[in-house]
Amino acid sequence: VPTPSYPLLDHLAALEGLETLPYRLDPHDDWRPRLPDDPASVVIAVHPNNPTGSYLPQDAAEALAQRCRRDQAALVADEVFHAYPLAGPPPPSFACREDLLLFVLGGLSKYAGLPQLKLAWTVVRGPEQLAGETMDRLAFLADQYLSVSTPVQLALPSLLRRAAPIRSAILARCRENLEILRTAASRWGGTTVVPPQGGWSVVIRYPGVLDEERLALELLHEDGVAVHPGYFYDLQGAHHLVISLLPPPTVFAEGARRVMERVARASESRLGLG
Ligand SMILES: Cc1ncc(COP(=O)(O)O)c(C=O)c1O
Repeated sequence: VPTPSYPLLDHLAALEGLETLPYRLDPHDDWRPRLPDDPASVVIAVHPNNPTGSYLPQDAAEALAQRCRRDQAALVADEVFHAYPLAGPPPPSFACREDLLLFVLGGLSKYAGLPQLKLAWTVVRGPEQLAGETMDRLAFLADQYLSVSTPVQLALPSLLRRAAPIRSAILARCRENLEILRTAASRWGGTTVVPPQGGWSVVIRYPGVLDEERLALELLHEDGVAVHPGYFYDLQGAHHLVISLLPPPTVFAEGARRVMERVARASESRLGLG
């Protein structure tokens, strides 16, 4: 599993009795994966990753696919945020390949901004016979669970048709908020916005004046701003906060100002200027 990343992966694997092995994404190399030598039966890629907003660069995607082929491993590509590029066109989806066993994940939650409807999908790709056998096994597994609710199944074609303007609106808002955050960061100084390429969140790095947990709690209780500390996602090597790009821009602008102000005040008091 990639790290830093979405923290649910480890828990989901543990619930299935699976052992996970983390591989690091290198912040100094466009978050390219550093794969350990140990073989794995399944490799998970999050494309783009949450919270770093990094799509796997094409050469890294190719290397990952080659490695899976070598180890006869399946590749699970979580692409729930693929349709939300924040900086130029996104690299191709893994669903464009069929040279290895691939499970590409998406769902209404992100694709249509409808998390409560609880409908998601998996695109299975791969060499024909392997993909066919895998589909049979998945069908058997799916039979062991309750099915997706009938109303949402029936509504799906219409929901998918109506999703495009919703995605456009979410994307426009995320881009606008990212610019607001960049402007606030440059006005107050001291923090760096780690450039995201896709998704709904952004990482900021701030000088090591306050630990992440304390800063996040102060922001919550004293400033009324909810952010995640970077350690929730195993972000290492500096002090990070993870910020959602989804709030309405006026609300977001005020939240960004409060975050920057608190970080700046903490830096000043540490330097004896406050
Ligand atoms: C990378 C990633 N994958 C999957 C999910 C799960 O999405 P949902 O359960 O809303 O479909 C999330 C939720 O935020 C996520 O960040």
